[in-house]
Amino acid sequence: MEINLDTKYVKLDPKNPDFYQNPYPYYAEIREKCPIFYWEDFNIWCFVNHADVDAVLRNRDFGVQIDHLAPREELGLDQIPENVKVFHNNDSHGILGMEPPKHTQIRKLVQKSFMNRQIGGFKTRIEELSHKLIDDIEKQERTNLLESFATPIPITIIAELLGVPIEMGSQMFKWSHDMVRMYHLGKTEADEARAVKATIEFSDYLRMHVAERRSKPKDDLLTQLIEIQEEGERLTEEELIANCILLLNAGHEATVNVIGNGIYALLKNPDQLQILREHPELIDRAVEEILRYDTPLHFFKRWVLKDSQIGDIRFPFKTQVAVLLGAANHDPGVFENPEKLDVMREYNPHLSFGGGIHFCVGAPLARLELQTAIPIILERLPNMQLESEPLFADTYHFRGLESLVVRY
Ligand code: HEM
Repeated sequence: MEINLDTKYVKLDPKNPDFYQNPYPYYAEIREKCPIFYWEDFNIWCFVNHADVDAVLRNRDFGVQIDHLAPREELGLDQIPENVKVFHNNDSHGILGMEPPKHTQIRKLVQKSFMNRQIGGFKTRIEELSHKLIDDIEKQERTNLLESFATPIPITIIAELLGVPIEMGSQMFKWSHDMVRMYHLGKTEADEARAVKATIEFSDYLRMHVAERRSKPKDDLLTQLIEIQEEGERLTEEELIANCILLLNAGHEATVNVIGNGIYALLKNPDQLQILREHPELIDRAVEEILRYDTPLHFFKRWVLKDSQIGDIRFPFKTQVAVLLGAANHDPGVFENPEKLDVMREYNPHLSFGGGIHFCVGAPLARLELQTAIPIILERLPNMQLESEPLFADTYHFRGLESLVVRY
């Protein structure tokens, strides 16, 4: 890493294994030297301090969209390249790509359907599923927990909640993976083509499903979203499909990684694992700590919607900035001993679910999944140990393990 203290420019390759295996020491050095820095490899100004990250997420002068203000041409911005238009078009119809007033309106609808389902009702289902998976795991001597436990739980639950057949689970997993490649640095034309293909196939699949639900409504989120659409005409077909894709993708990507990162963190910190085993009532705190300690989503961009200044840096209209959630979650000004996993940590205002108007809609479901599944695996596999030291995947934004092989 090269830090230029005068310009606050930093050269740091996110594809360097030393960095993506453990970005936290790099964040600590950057925070000490220039907590608002220009990341040359991404060509973007970035924030690492908790206060700055929180402020940017909440500040309405920074937004996820810019072309709601005027067409890109008028703003003097490059057009979206023709070959990736389908992907961007879908993205901009999901709430994560929208600004108010449209965002407020659609988020309310999505959230309403989400709440109606009474997420709490899914606890029994998560318990049942976790036990069933461990019944199979127990038949072997070792397993890759990422495949056999961490992945199937969030995928099954989000598919059942939406009302999409779980037989499509592995296909959805693949579509989702192909789509999120669009956010990786150094994405190739082949990655773009794969992301577009996945968007088209996923949308077509859901469109077919929506048509079926229209004729045969069921007790699921898809039916509720369709009914909202038909009642008030407030959700267009494009918005309906884009938000279903968003819920299905966001509904498993990060949760899978938190289950994996969390179990790994506990196995690496046997004293903390012991405390949790002896005091299962600490699970809610332990889950928040796992979310903080090894943050699953590290990097989010925002457009500057109005000339702004933070610290001594000016951010002109139409440029972009990025917040580093993993860095904010390790800010020693906020978290005592931030590099330590402490399942008893009381004060823990982590930013893993974001903040402000785009705060994660699925946070209650993700928390329920983690608070339910993790204690079950700890109880059922009391002798679980790492078989080998796992590696993190080369996907800096999405921090998760390649595999997590344990024996028991
Ligand atoms: C541990 C698991 C999860 C983590 C760490 C996480 C994290 C986040 C973060 C950081 C954001 C804000 C992004 C931004 O500000 O640009 C977000 C938004 C969102 N998340 Fe999650 N998420 C998780 C699980 C879920 C689940 C289970 C669902 C769905 C069931 C979900 C659905 C969404 C949606 C729809 C948004 C967009 C909200 C909006 O734009 O208003 N997430 N999530």
